[in-house]
Amino acid sequence: MDRNTITTLVSCLFLTARIGYAATADPTQQLGGNSPWFPGPNINDISYDVPDGCSVDMAAFVSRHGSRYPDTGAYNQWVALAEKIQAAQFTATGDYSFLQTWKPVLSNPAVQIADISIGGYKELYDMGVSYRWRYPDFYTENTPFSVFANQYPNAPRVINSARLFARGYLGPNTTYGDIYVLKSTDPKSIANSLAPSDSCPLYSDNGGGANLTTWNDLYLPAVTKRVNSHIHGNLNFTDSDVSIFPYLCGFETQITGRQSPWCNIFNEDELEKYEYAQDLRYYYGSGPGSGKNYTLMQPVLNAIVQRLVNGPNKTYVNSNGESWTPGPLIPMFTNDGQLNQLAAEIGVFDQQKPLPRTKIPDDQIFVASHYVTMRGTIGFERLTCSNKKFVRIVLNDAVYPVASCQNGPGKSCPLESYAALINQKSKSQGSFVQICGLTNTTGAGATNTATFLVDNALSWEYVVKP
Ligand SMILES: *[C@@H]1O[C@H](CO)[C@@H](O)[C@H](O)[C@H]1NC(C)=O
Ligand SMILES: *[C@@H]1O[C@H](CO)[C@@H](O)[C@H](O)[C@H]1NC(C)=O
Ligand SMILES: *[C@@H]1O[C@H](CO)[C@@H](O)[C@H](O)[C@H]1NC(C)=O
Ligand SMILES: *[C@@H]1O[C@H](CO)[C@@H](O)[C@H](O)[C@H]1NC(C)=O
Ligand SMILES: *[C@@H]1O[C@H](CO)[C@@H](O)[C@H](O)[C@H]1NC(C)=O
Ligand SMILES: *[C@@H]1O[C@H](CO)[C@@H](O)[C@H](O)[C@H]1NC(C)=O
Repeated sequence: MDRNTITTLVSCLFLTARIGYAATADPTQQLGGNSPWFPGPNINDISYDVPDGCSVDMAAFVSRHGSRYPDTGAYNQWVALAEKIQAAQFTATGDYSFLQTWKPVLSNPAVQIADISIGGYKELYDMGVSYRWRYPDFYTENTPFSVFANQYPNAPRVINSARLFARGYLGPNTTYGDIYVLKSTDPKSIANSLAPSDSCPLYSDNGGGANLTTWNDLYLPAVTKRVNSHIHGNLNFTDSDVSIFPYLCGFETQITGRQSPWCNIFNEDELEKYEYAQDLRYYYGSGPGSGKNYTLMQPVLNAIVQRLVNGPNKTYVNSNGESWTPGPLIPMFTNDGQLNQLAAEIGVFDQQKPLPRTKIPDDQIFVASHYVTMRGTIGFERLTCSNKKFVRIVLNDAVYPVASCQNGPGKSCPLESYAALINQKSKSQGSFVQICGLTNTTGAGATNTATFLVDNALSWEYVVKP
């Protein structure tokens, strides 16, 4: 049985319980944005295979960077937790016995913090190879290969993800790979980068806000009480300590390549509640429940749709007068906030009712673990089926139908209809400058369409090699 058949069986068995969740025995697959990469469950029961009678002649994806080491703030929490544990006198057995000797797994924090981990290297090389093999006709040896990356000033992890992907994709000789790095903090880059929200003064990610706090206050105290009942002595965890255990589970596993002992602390029911906390974090932080904060990837989405409509072989004229044929695959790398904004805009979650803050709903399709993982990926495939063009959306290798448009082969959407839907969303939500309270009436913020996918001579981008 292939993976799709297995996940279909699994999702059928559990469909009646909770649409969005497939039962999984692997706790690292229930950690939302803290999950290492895994192919999402096929919850919509649509094969990832190309539909019969169709071929993919063009594809784009926007991906989060790969698995990484913690940022400084998270690392400091780990260190403080280790100090608290070491200062206590206690006994603990079974799944808890590791606490006696636990310390953070970073071997050289000064150089590791915030950058890609070994697990991330593996994810990104594998990703490059899998895209090369999935679309075998997309690349011609000894021709330029373009990848786009958000500069992300805090750490090199996004640029490094793009480079590692390109190495996997190109193989032994990376001479022809070009990573176009877009500086989203350059004032001229308004709405024309892979992090447009960086140029929006009204953008604010509240991290899930009061709704997440309500949920955490509901479920965490019982977890803390249960955890503390397994420990004898003067070690007493708080809700805040306990809230990072699943985070440690995800990170330690992708850093060391072995399942972290923290993965055995939350039981199945508690993990499901943690997973839902991640859903609330993204839904209200920069997703569908975040006011207009979620609309800020519109200029990138419009640029992607424009490229899909123009087709794989089109040659563009750059702002420096030179011509450029960017090719049939459009790989883009950025951060979780941007990926999450884009997810909210592409039409696959348009029927999702607002997530309640006091219970897990039974009709949930917006599940962060299924697309905003490390290396989480939103893919767009242009299908040609007897001369008609369609588009389908793929989240972490699982096909998601567009809620209002799924009458094409394999529940795809006619490309023209998809372009019309995205254009209509863009018009009704307002342009980037309007949403952000800016006054500039020229450029990508006013047209609502980024140009970096059709012009590789912008002053706020530069090239690095794989
Ligand atoms: C890679 O290809 C380029 C262009 O064909 C060639 O000049 C270069 O020597 C090759 N490098 C390696 C390491 O094979
Ligand atoms: C553990 O801490 C909680 C507050 O976080 C407190 O209510 C409880 O009494 C403490 N238990 C012990 C055994 O110190
Ligand atoms: C983003 O969310 C914050 C609340 O966290 C809100 O004040 C702000 O208006 C939102 N911004 C936009 C552009 O919708
Ligand atoms: C693009 O060009 C390639 C190579 O010439 C060709 O095989 C392919 O059919 C073209 N695709 C379209 C959609 O025109
Ligand atoms: C909490 O959720 C409700 C229901 O979706 C929503 O109306 C409200 O704006 C949310 N609160 C915050 C602070 O996001
Ligand atoms: C308006 O935006 C364009 C394109 O982003 C930029 O070149 C120009 O400098 C901006 N004008 C002002 C006054 O900020």
